[in-house]
Amino acid sequence: PLDHLESVWLFGYGSLIYKADFPYLQRKPACIWGWQRRFWQGSHDHRGTPEAPGRVATLVEVPGARCAGMAYEVTPEVFDHLDHREKNGYLRVFTELEWLDAEGNAEGLVYMASADNEAYLGPASEADIATHIARSEGPSGPNSEYLLKLAEALRELDEHDDHVFAIERELLKQLE
Ligand code: BEZ
Repeated sequence: PLDHLESVWLFGYGSLIYKADFPYLQRKPACIWGWQRRFWQGSHDHRGTPEAPGRVATLVEVPGARCAGMAYEVTPEVFDHLDHREKNGYLRVFTELEWLDAEGNAEGLVYMASADNEAYLGPASEADIATHIARSEGPSGPNSEYLLKLAEALRELDEHDDHVFAIERELLKQLE
């Protein structure tokens, strides 16, 4: 259904911020409003296994919240690759993007995993999430690497994220 478009903006708020393994025309830091990043989604296929799923980011609807990330302008074929990479409960939804470094907005697609998908794990304390992440590993590597790379990528964007940084602090304590 995207094939009639020449290009589409894709907004990444998780691994897509630091790992773009697809061609893109340009990328720009962006944010979305009304959504909050939370490590509430289970990962059976990347940072965990079906028996021991890891914890990865999804978006939770919170009025007034802001979630920063990276937007990529891509051709529609890229979604064939991504839809495969990002199965495991995520659906793509169009949402409004706001640029971090420029005026203006655009429509973009974002992958979201809502509470009704079978891999959803839901809320836990940040300390418990860190413990879970410290123990998990999947075909894409250790779950801790995902969290630590995301925290680093957010710092590079000059973005603070209480949830991600609190899990990072707990994780670094536990990995000591
Ligand atoms: C993201 O970085 O936006 C993302 C990556 C994988 C699945 C869903 C979202």
